[in-house]
Amino acid sequence: MKVLITGCRGQVGRELMALAATHGCDAVGFERNTLDITDQVAVQKIVAQQQPDAVINAAAYTAVDGAESDVAAAFAVNATAVNYLAQACADLNIPLVHISTDYVFDGSKEGGYSEDDTLSPLGVYGESKRAGEEAVRAVCSAHYILRTSWVFSAHGNNFVKTMLRLGAERDVLSVVSDQYGKPTSAQEIATTIYTMLMSNKRAWGTYHIAQPEVTTWFGFAEAIFSEAKRESMELKIRTLNAITSKEYPTPAKRPANSELSCIKLEKTFEIKLKPWSDSLPDVIHALTPG
Ligand SMILES: NC(=O)c1ccc[n+]([C@@H]2O[C@H](COP(=O)([O-])OP(=O)(O)OC[C@H]3O[C@@H](n4cnc5c(N)ncnc54)[C@H](OP(=O)(O)O)[C@@H]3O)[C@@H](O)[C@H]2O)c1
Repeated sequence: MKVLITGCRGQVGRELMALAATHGCDAVGFERNTLDITDQVAVQKIVAQQQPDAVINAAAYTAVDGAESDVAAAFAVNATAVNYLAQACADLNIPLVHISTDYVFDGSKEGGYSEDDTLSPLGVYGESKRAGEEAVRAVCSAHYILRTSWVFSAHGNNFVKTMLRLGAERDVLSVVSDQYGKPTSAQEIATTIYTMLMSNKRAWGTYHIAQPEVTTWFGFAEAIFSEAKRESMELKIRTLNAITSKEYPTPAKRPANSELSCIKLEKTFEIKLKPWSDSLPDVIHALTPG
C-alpha cells in the first residue's frame, strides 16, 4: 500500500515515515516546504500525481495557546486545508486518515469520552480541529478521524522535552495537577494507523487512540523525572510542586478531563494500546545525551 503523508516532519509524521516499511507500506512524505496543505492547487496536483492508496494528514497547526490570537492561521491549516485534502481523496476515491484531538471536548464529563460524545471545544485550536473533522465527514466518506491526546516523542515540541529542559535549568518546578488525560506516544499512534489501514476492514469513522492510564500533567512530570533519573540524566530539579490550572493561567483554557475511551478501537480492530509508561523509557533514552 502506498501512503502519502503530510506534515512528515512533525511528531506523528516522523514516526509514520519511520514505521511505514515495517508495516509493508510505501510512504511518500511531504513537509510544509514541499506541500503546504493550505495551497489547494498544490494539494490536488500532488495527490493526483502520487496516486497513493491512502493519504494520512499529520500536518496541523498545533500551538494551542498561539491559536487564540492566530485564529485565521489555525482555521486555515486545521479546517480549510483539511477540506482540500478530503476533496482530493474523494476525487481519487481513496481514504483519508485525519488526526484530531481530545481538545474538541470541554472536559466536563466524568470518565472517558466516547466518539459520539458532544463536541464543545474550549478554545480556538479545538474549534479549528472540530471544523476539520466536520470537513472530512462532509466530503470524504472513506475516512478515519483519529482523536488522540497529549502526544510525546523524541522530536518536536512536547511536554516531555519541555520538562527535561526546565528540569535541567531549575531546582523547583510547578506543574498543574487538575487536568486529567492520557499521554500518547507518536510511535504508538503511527503503529495504530498502519494496523488499521492494513487490516483492510474499511470500518470508516471516528476513533479514539490514546494510551492507558489516565494521569495528570503533574503525574506525567513525575514519571518523566523518575525515568530521566534512571537514565542518569543530569538534572537540577529537586522539588516538583502540584498546582491548579488557576495558578497557571494560559491564553487557551484546557479541558479538566480529556480522557479518551478507546473501546471502539478495541472492539472494531482488536487493537489495545500499551500503557504510556511503557513508551516513555524509549523516548527518554533517545533524549539522553551520550
Ligand atoms: N501534540 C499534541 O499533544 C496533540 C494532541 C492531540 C492531538 N494532536 C494532533 O495530532 C496531529 C499530529 O500532531 P503533532 O504533535 O505530530 O504535531 P507537530 O509536531 O506540531 O507537527 C505538525 C506538522 O505540521 C506541519 N504543518 C503546519 N502547517 C502546515 C501546512 N500549512 N502545510 C503542511 N504542513 C504543515 C508542521 O510544520 P512546521 O514545523 O513547518 O510548522 C509540523 O511539521 C495533529 O493533527 C494534532 O492536532 C496533537
